Amino acid sequence: MTLKLKITTSDPAASRVDALGVVCFQDELEQHSGLQTLDAAFEGALLSHLKAMEFTGKAGQLVELPSLGRLPASKVVVCGAGERGEGEKPRLAAAVASAVRGSFSAHPASVGVVVPESVSDFRAVAEGAVLGAYRFTKYLTGDRKPKRALERVDVLTTTKPTAAQNRELELGKAIAEAVCVTRDVVNEPPNVIYPESLAQRAREVAKKGNLKLKILDPKGLAAAGHNLHVAVGQGSVRGPYLAHLSYVPKKPGKRVVFVGKGVTFDTGGICIKPMQGMADMKTDMAGAGAVLGLMAAVAVLQPDVEVHGIIGAAENMPDGNAYRPADVLTSLSGKTVEIINTDAEGRLILADALTYATRLKPDAIVDAATLTGATLVSLGQPYSAFFSTDDVLAQAMERAARRAGESFWRMPLIEELASQLKSDVADLKHVGDRYGGAISAALFLREFVDQVPWIHCDIPGAVYGDRPAGVYPKGATGHAVLTFLELVEIFAEGAAVSGKTPPAPSGTGEGTTPRPARRVPRRTTGKAAKAPARRKR
Ligand code: BES
Ligand code: ZN
Ligand code: MN
Repeated sequence: MTLKLKITTSDPAASRVDALGVVCFQDELEQHSGLQTLDAAFEGALLSHLKAMEFTGKAGQLVELPSLGRLPASKVVVCGAGERGEGEKPRLAAAVASAVRGSFSAHPASVGVVVPESVSDFRAVAEGAVLGAYRFTKYLTGDRKPKRALERVDVLTTTKPTAAQNRELELGKAIAEAVCVTRDVVNEPPNVIYPESLAQRAREVAKKGNLKLKILDPKGLAAAGHNLHVAVGQGSVRGPYLAHLSYVPKKPGKRVVFVGKGVTFDTGGICIKPMQGMADMKTDMAGAGAVLGLMAAVAVLQPDVEVHGIIGAAENMPDGNAYRPADVLTSLSGKTVEIINTDAEGRLILADALTYATRLKPDAIVDAATLTGATLVSLGQPYSAFFSTDDVLAQAMERAARRAGESFWRMPLIEELASQLKSDVADLKHVGDRYGGAISAALFLREFVDQVPWIHCDIPGAVYGDRPAGVYPKGATGHAVLTFLELVEIFAEGAAVSGKTPPAPSGTGEGTTPRPARRVPRRTTGKAAKAPARRKR
């Protein structure tokens, strides 16, 4: 059931809702007419309580209080949105989300959110409301089942909304619902989400969004030569799948391909993981989940950019038929790969999916994967790493993450580490040293993107949280969807995607007509291996 959302100018103190949220920018308590109105209903006790609690409207501040019969709502939650200006949009969304989430203890069917004075970004408000209202409760029964579902959020403001503002509200709602597609699929347990059912979710997204869809089943993957992907999946009775969704705008624009790692459960395979933490590996399809959410969002936003979403799905299990360390496999690209550790399965699936992506001749490729524990070690749980072969593209990514309010940190592709991927029996080893493990994983992937400007996102931590933060709830967060959507919007604005020589014009610009590949020489692992050896210590 989807949340009902509307903008109204009704008096917050008289508003017939079960709980009331108030969002306030920093040091604006006096200007906030909604707060002043409510304070009158409390005979001055509201503002003096906020003062006593040292509430100033700083981002992340939250004060809850019972209304004690002074309002129709049983509870008031006041949230700070920080300063106005730079980065205001995600802070506003986060405060709205916290206000809605904070009202849950009142078991509300309806919540009113009083927005700050002269707020006009109703897309952000709607995103915050829907993202804050999200809960994953489908497997709870009896007492654990929420008594009432939140059905309605009223956005309370002082000026009558324009038609454009109502449209922004609808758009924000639809975008947030797309993020919730990602959350749902990541929250689902691995007995429910396995490669075939993940592909089925892709089918649902395609159907709802009127997107083109191609699915490769286990036979199709083998026939097409995705041998690395097939190898990862062959230890499971639930065979591997690839789903390719595409959105083609009416007006032709840039073409960008997103690729997601969809390991529905990662036991490590023959190199099996220890029991501690293995259950977390239900989130190992969060990259694919983000790509699905993005495609759902793109379908509603309808930008003038051609967007493809590819998910590579497999379950990594130990079995008599499982792939093993020392196997040598021929990738879709033709490069041969020596398997080192069957727990480094994600990069194998991605390698073939990236080759598939390059064959679409895109202007840029962006992949997302819960790829390495090394990224968790270097950046901590809330941050994702990203790598790029192109500085202009990397800057666009930085801007996109900032606009979305999501935490991404650029990491370097350190050439010296590439020699770790040299194999004696094959073109490449698929794992380097433990130190710098996120970087050598990225360098391995780089071998499969040809000359296409590329971003690799390693998102092991932020996709799942043990407590709510901003628009993120506990559990699956939907991380990366909003950043990728901003990136698509930046492409739609006509910004340069790459600092490299642009490709020859594609002429017709229809569909996925192949364009001539760019000729930009780039170092290969072989050459990097000849680089001077590192100083011994
Ligand atoms: N899915 C894991 C990475 C991971 C770890 C994601 C923790 C989220 C939280 C990945 O498949 C993996 O097992 N990576 C190994 C690679 C190693 C064997 C080279 C790792 O990081 O330990
Ligand atoms: Zn994995
Ligand atoms: Mn693994």
